[in-house]
Amino acid sequence: MKYTVVEASNDTEFGLKAKAAFYAAIDGLSMPNVVLPTGETPRPFYQALRDDGSKPAFTYVQLDEYLGLAESDPRLFAAWLARDVLDPLDIKIRLTFNSAAEPEQEVRRMRDRLAVHGPIDIAVLGIGSNGHIGFNEPGSSFDHGVRIVDLAVETIAANKAYWPQSGTSFPAQAFTLGLADLKAARQTILLVRGEGKAEILRRALLGEITPDVPGSYLQRQKGLTIVADTAALSAMKL
Ligand code: GLP
Repeated sequence: MKYTVVEASNDTEFGLKAKAAFYAAIDGLSMPNVVLPTGETPRPFYQALRDDGSKPAFTYVQLDEYLGLAESDPRLFAAWLARDVLDPLDIKIRLTFNSAAEPEQEVRRMRDRLAVHGPIDIAVLGIGSNGHIGFNEPGSSFDHGVRIVDLAVETIAANKAYWPQSGTSFPAQAFTLGLADLKAARQTILLVRGEGKAEILRRALLGEITPDVPGSYLQRQKGLTIVADTAALSAMKL
């Protein structure tokens, strides 16, 4: 396995190094297809992109989305990404899931659009504490494409924490790009921040390659860059 590790000692540095890795990845490409993650991890990266002020041109491909939320729901990942990065960067072409659509049709629509627009050029990803990538939960086949998934209990709990005011009702299902879609990416940038991710990062990169740890598919991935803070890398150095 060959990959590049970029270490950051604080959040500002993390954001700037992630931005540099991203700009290096898109350099010279005309309208690449780019996957971007939601979550706490990429916040300093999006801050750095906004602060930079330049407007890189790319097609945004949505990684994952809750199923069954209304178009105006602020919890939609599409809305989150729009606020944090896509609107500020003026990204116009967005291949997003329609959370409120008939689910099976929506899966087919996204598969068709991916087939037309071509494979993903750059997948920027986070990793869940249980090793999930996008919403590919433990047990996900490495060969699945776009699909509907049941969210793991720990994922629902982690996602509820993004929306403390949202009460008890929370989506139990989601759309996600599959690991087969992500494996096809020419370049992958994995963002990992915080001590809470140290053990799962170690398992994903140094443990057994298994669907039980979806992120372990990365061990076979070419063109992988890991941008991580010192805390997240701590278990790799034991
Ligand atoms: C979320 C998202 C993922 C994200 C991951 C880690 O549930 N579905 O796309 O990468 O879990 O999130 P965080 O960065 O908040 O730890």
